[in-house]
Amino acid sequence: MASLTIRKLDEAVKAYLRLRSASKGRSVEEEVRVILGELIRGHVHDQGQAEPAPALSAAQAAARPARPASTTGEVRITLIIGGGIAAYKALDLIRRLKERQIRVRCVLTGAATRFVTPLAAGALAGERAYTDLFDPESEFDAGHIRLARDCDLIVVAPATADLMAKMAQGHADDLASAILLAASRPILLAPAMNPMMWSNAATRRNAAQLARDGVAMVGPNAGEMAERGEAGVGRMAEPVEIADAAERFLRPPQPRPLSGKRVLITAGPTHEPIDPVRYIANRSSGKQGFAIAAAAQAAGADVTLISGPVELDEPHGVKVVHVESAREMLARVETALPADIAIFAAAVADWRVANEGGQKLKKTDAALPPLALVENPDILATISHLKERRPPLVIGFAAETEHLIDNAKAKLARKGCDWIVANDVSPATGVMGGDRNTVHLLARHGSRIDVDSWPVMTKEQVAVELIAHVAKNFPTG
Ligand code: CTP
Repeated sequence: MASLTIRKLDEAVKAYLRLRSASKGRSVEEEVRVILGELIRGHVHDQGQAEPAPALSAAQAAARPARPASTTGEVRITLIIGGGIAAYKALDLIRRLKERQIRVRCVLTGAATRFVTPLAAGALAGERAYTDLFDPESEFDAGHIRLARDCDLIVVAPATADLMAKMAQGHADDLASAILLAASRPILLAPAMNPMMWSNAATRRNAAQLARDGVAMVGPNAGEMAERGEAGVGRMAEPVEIADAAERFLRPPQPRPLSGKRVLITAGPTHEPIDPVRYIANRSSGKQGFAIAAAAQAAGADVTLISGPVELDEPHGVKVVHVESAREMLARVETALPADIAIFAAAVADWRVANEGGQKLKKTDAALPPLALVENPDILATISHLKERRPPLVIGFAAETEHLIDNAKAKLARKGCDWIVANDVSPATGVMGGDRNTVHLLARHGSRIDVDSWPVMTKEQVAVELIAHVAKNFPTG
């Protein structure tokens, strides 16, 4: 059994151990036993079985595949920002990761704080940024161990030559390097440095050692350096590339049954102008259509989402076209063709005002304004009846408040589409603007119509289920 001589430990580690043991009223030796015990128990818990102590090394731990550290299904990254000019790009990286619903906790090295402030990093991440190994607020419960373990992945961006050297040697004299040494999660580095530093034999050795230790890297790229007139390999990968690489760790590739398929989706309400400041609208939130677009994208499709005015974030990886009126929506749908699958989830206004006022209508006029209505083009029917360029699978929605199935069957025949998703939008159901939906899928097979009734689900679940049906039924050959 190996013995550990406290005296021979790194000065910073000794200082930390003294501080921690004093605060707990234990001897330094006892404290080391407690820390090792915590690490091993955490490790055993992760693995579901006991493993020999050497598996605690950051390197071997880093080589293990990502597995959620969170019980809530939330995905978390500890982002270590190193001290280089590329640190400013780490702020954009935080934004990109948050966009992908990833929780980000930032740690800045001392040098990094010369380039970006912990306040800026914390504000973008939505929680405080950490800088100090001896921060009394977070270290009372071994905060660096928590930062190293309470995450699914550790990303270092920019990873400077110095930080890489410390990692390769196993130093732990500041918060960032202590976290990296205590890491039990995979580590992804985004190196950034001057090309001469990157090609230096010492950095090459360190990079090779880190690769052997199972540490992953994205970049560096070739290009112009911040230093005037310098170019070569050493530029930090772009924030989107780093976010993509991180996501590959966190969310391993899923089956993509709609890969190579073009999917066109309409969503949201339309606004039909009365005059320059007033319009006719409806209560649609666009949530169902947006959820379908996200599910289709996740299934590998190339998705174009044509949306009326909504208050929703654009789904990642989806091409979103914003429109106001029904006529504009039809025009943009026609431009987006050809498509393999078209899903019309928009609550298109049936009528528009024929005599739209060029100026704001004044209420001082003697009579009430005469609002003559004309019918809007039916986008679903138009596309379903196309002779050429009709998508092979056209799906409509039927928003009904009574005789749901009968009305939906009639709508399916009238519109000429292949499937209809029927839902009850009576105010009591809370579907319009709400998060849940109870739907019935009506599919036409010649003169026969099959009705498949689904239980109440969230709109996201309805979307995933619908896309799974599309993938199953859509002729892929
Ligand atoms: N739709 C469309 N263009 C319109 C009206 C509706 O593309 N001008 C589409 C909707 O996107 C939906 C389907 O037609 O996929 C049915 O919409 P819904 O509002 O339920 O029916 P309407 O056609 O408006 O008929 P009604 O109001 O009589 O129920």
